[in-house]
Amino acid sequence: MARGRFITFEGGEGTGKSTLIAGLVPALRDRGISVVVTREPGGTPLAEKIRELALNPPDDHEWSPLAHALLMNAAREDHLVRQIRPALDRGLWVLCDRFADSSRAYQSTQGVSMSVLKQFERAVVGDTTPDLTLILDAAPEDLAARRMARDITDVFEAKGMEFHQNIRNAFLAIAKDEPNRCTVISALQPVEDVLANALTAIDALGAQ
Ligand code: TYD
Repeated sequence: MARGRFITFEGGEGTGKSTLIAGLVPALRDRGISVVVTREPGGTPLAEKIRELALNPPDDHEWSPLAHALLMNAAREDHLVRQIRPALDRGLWVLCDRFADSSRAYQSTQGVSMSVLKQFERAVVGDTTPDLTLILDAAPEDLAARRMARDITDVFEAKGMEFHQNIRNAFLAIAKDEPNRCTVISALQPVEDVLANALTAIDALGAQ
């Protein structure tokens, strides 16, 4: 059984990752590909509990940036062991809404050093690096209206424009560092064009 493909979706808040994933599932199934859709932090019952603790901490508790990084990685370890690696081994394609690049972007913006984050990543992700990472990109001011229309509020959604700009820059820097793995797609295009761009990148992957 050939190993499946691991595709991750990254980008700032309100860039349309879930809309893109929802559009890709039927398109990939039409190509005869069996897909599993999952997300981070989360994806397994335990990791979903960690997600709740990390993103909506009880009362006025605030996690330190390092504690946040550890929680994200603890959730990721469970997700990889119980869900992602077994699915890939069974030949399934895993579509994951956020993954380790979100730790690099968000936790570094919060102040955790990139060298610590990369050490965590090496220990947890190991060689289960994504085959393809689609980064949905747009200027945060262009996305502000979209963010405000969402009724989700968590510790990151509430941050100011500078924070979102830093996150955007961090994702673009990752794409520049790892151009073979990452494809940047403009999130301001019509939904059908975002989907078409994503399928072009995915089809190139299938041909490898
Ligand atoms: P979510 O509501 O899924 O955000 P979005 O819809 O924008 O994807 O919340 C996930 C939040 O968790 C998001 O603000 C990014 C953050 N996050 C980290 O800080 N580190 C991580 O490693 C991951 C996976 C997510």
